[in-house]
Amino acid sequence: MSIKLPAVGNSQILSVGSYRPKRLVPNSEIVDRIESSDEWIVQRTGIQSRRFAGPEEGVISMAMAACEMALERAHMSMADIDTVILATISYPFQAPSAATELVALLGNPKAAAVDISAACAGFCYGVAMASDLVRTGNSKNVLVIGVEKLSDFTDPNDRATAFIFADGAGAVIIGASDQARIGPTIWGSDADSRDTIMLTPAYTEFRNAPEKGVAHLGWPNIAQQGQAVYRWAVFTVSKAGIKALEAAGVRADELGAFIPHQANMRIIESMAKEINIPESVITADDIRVNGNTSAASIPLAMDALLLKHPELHGTLALLIGYGAGLVYAAQVVALPPAP
Ligand SMILES: CC(C)(COP(=O)(O)OP(=O)(O)OC[C@H]1O[C@@H](n2cnc3c(N)ncnc32)[C@H](O)[C@@H]1OP(=O)(O)O)[C@@H](O)C(=O)NCCC(=O)NCCS
Repeated sequence: MSIKLPAVGNSQILSVGSYRPKRLVPNSEIVDRIESSDEWIVQRTGIQSRRFAGPEEGVISMAMAACEMALERAHMSMADIDTVILATISYPFQAPSAATELVALLGNPKAAAVDISAACAGFCYGVAMASDLVRTGNSKNVLVIGVEKLSDFTDPNDRATAFIFADGAGAVIIGASDQARIGPTIWGSDADSRDTIMLTPAYTEFRNAPEKGVAHLGWPNIAQQGQAVYRWAVFTVSKAGIKALEAAGVRADELGAFIPHQANMRIIESMAKEINIPESVITADDIRVNGNTSAASIPLAMDALLLKHPELHGTLALLIGYGAGLVYAAQVVALPPAP
């Protein structure tokens, strides 16, 4: 006996939506506490400002706003969505998931709903899963959300992180397509380097003394070894970008846009060189004004790029997500059609 399966089809990004918190925080608001300067931060990272969510702007409300925008642009309602994949590392509860709260609030509490934790690679991991769910017929239309309120998990006095991380949400709807508009995902991990980016001191305290349980653990904040992350991103993760192009059968000069995770403008520029992205391809630089929003950064950057360059709708883009784990994922996608 064998099981009958529908024929494998194709998938595409139907729309993108975003939410940026209201409060814009320039470097000048950050620098005194970490003995830094606007010049140092701009020169090392490209970041001029970021957005921090206020108390009324949480993971759920930001995700909702991004989803509503994506639904409107796809001319869909929540009733058309049967699956929700929400990528985040800053929703403070393990259960019930943020995704289930989201589908209930958006008015479709029957949709399949799951949170995934792949840090700054979370959005690309979500796109990979959603694309295959659609292609195999398990899901019809999937909302993939990247959302973070990293200001809740960043120590404002930490010189290594306080100027980098930020808040926001982005969402895409992935549905069926007559042609392949999402390429194969090249993904993996370098899990021997888990200590390179982590939530601390809780993670290290727990790992060093698991017998003490969790009740004594302090509030976790992000810690990172900046130079190790930098080298890994440029020299290891770029290779995933090259492989994603090869797997999709697309040359770098056939891309309309390059939209890597917005971690650091210097990393983005070095990656573009490693992958041989030509100048004709428009490279996302949302980090300059929005900082590093982890799982949210790629859909936020995609949305910003399409608003600034409407001619990019429907063109091919290389996406690369990477972050704590260490984990990475890259794929070529067609950017959504104009709404
Ligand atoms: C974080 C990062 C900008 C730090 O830059 P760096 O060049 O590696 O900085 P270093 O820690 O080596 O310090 C270099 C100098 O800057 C100083 N410095 C460090 N942090 C500083 C800060 N926030 N402001 C001003 N000076 C700072 C150091 O004291 C040191 O000074 P010295 O040369 O007089 O000793 C850089 O490593 C980076 O961007 N890494 C990638 C991080 C990232 O993208 N993370 C997200 C991944 S998802």
